[in-house]
Amino acid sequence: MTAPLRSAEPIKVAVALGARAYDIIIGRGLLASLGERIKALRPGAKVAIVTDATVAKLHLPAAEKALKAAGIESSAIIVPAGEGSKNFATFETVCETIVAARIERGDLVVALGGGVIGDLAGYAAASVRRGLDFVQVPTTLLAQVDSSVGGKTGINSRHGKNLVGAFHQPILVVADTALLDTLPKREFHAGYAEVAKFGLLGDAAFFSWLESSWKEVFSGGPAREHAIAVCCRGKAGIVARDEYETGERALLNLGHTFGHALEAGAGFSGRLLHGEAVALGIVLAFEFSARKVLIGEADASRARSHLAAVGLPTAIKDVPGGVPGIDTLMELIAQDKKVKRGKLTFILVRGIGQAFVANDVDAAEVRALLADRLAQK
Ligand SMILES: NC(=O)c1ccc[n+]([C@@H]2O[C@H](COP(=O)([O-])OP(=O)(O)OC[C@H]3O[C@@H](n4cnc5c(N)ncnc54)[C@H](O)[C@@H]3O)[C@@H](O)[C@H]2O)c1
Ligand SMILES: [Zn+2]
Repeated sequence: MTAPLRSAEPIKVAVALGARAYDIIIGRGLLASLGERIKALRPGAKVAIVTDATVAKLHLPAAEKALKAAGIESSAIIVPAGEGSKNFATFETVCETIVAARIERGDLVVALGGGVIGDLAGYAAASVRRGLDFVQVPTTLLAQVDSSVGGKTGINSRHGKNLVGAFHQPILVVADTALLDTLPKREFHAGYAEVAKFGLLGDAAFFSWLESSWKEVFSGGPAREHAIAVCCRGKAGIVARDEYETGERALLNLGHTFGHALEAGAGFSGRLLHGEAVALGIVLAFEFSARKVLIGEADASRARSHLAAVGLPTAIKDVPGGVPGIDTLMELIAQDKKVKRGKLTFILVRGIGQAFVANDVDAAEVRALLADRLAQK
């Protein structure tokens, strides 16, 4: 972890996955170079851009212009904005439109949008003709630091989130940090929860840096690029060591078991965004670790204070409209993670930056913590 350098050069992070290795390029104004970068990787390829209606209005013309400037033929597939598009009906439309546009093996799908578009377009790319190459152009902070990297793609089933999907790595990720300037403030904050997560799970020096530099990450400039690069480097390392999540990759779920239960409890509505739920989940994971005397209260309070300082929710009572009662939350937790004889798997911490997978967490202890926090006024 070094301090950010002011540099006009984009930052390159390599994802070392052998035959499926690719680069993540991070920098302000990179969208203009998209065509040239694609041409260098896949000369002569045609492109289908998948995006959502909100992003299309703001950034599709610039993406199309960049492709055209490099002599690349493209068509656009625009789906409604929001999590609702990660369904079978939209997936079908996207696949059929890619086929109709005569995108064949050797051609490319470009995902221009947040995590919803990355997951949906990536899964369509994995499926059409048994696998087309695809490029991620993430447009939310969450997508730039997390969802565009690592190759998890998919849609939701009526039984739950992300239940249908595939591992399909992109061939390139182009993270233009200027695209985040149009992102609603609340979405930027929510994405920041995942940034803090990277420090808290495995990089204490990065977390300290965030504590002093977060304002510059929010305002843009080199600190923003630096933070995104550190997260991508962290995730790239984990993915290269454990692509299919048989071990270490699970650490990226810090705060997510509690978080998913709260998100589901709020009905996946605008009342609680994913990143906001993750912030609450991280606080609970730290509080739980403190109760188990894995860390001192000081570490739990440091994690909580930072998330609160940036304006993220840190107490269940912060959720507007409230969350369901303890029984429902415990059922949601049990659905999210397998329970074996009353034992749950959680990501806990032995300190800031020292997360680990705990396979034998007592459901009764989780229930006791949640009951306490639900009672908090
Ligand atoms: N594949 C993975 O590894 C992974 C990891 C984490 C999350 N996810 C998935 O990511 C999704 C959440 O991603 P998200 O938070 O990016 O949501 P999102 O894609 O719905 O984007 C959030 C909102 O911001 C809008 N938006 C996007 N870019 C914008 C921009 N530059 N300016 C203005 N508005 C913009 C979108 O239209 C949308 O309304 C979830 O479905 C989650 O399951 C996947
Ligand atoms: Zn997340």
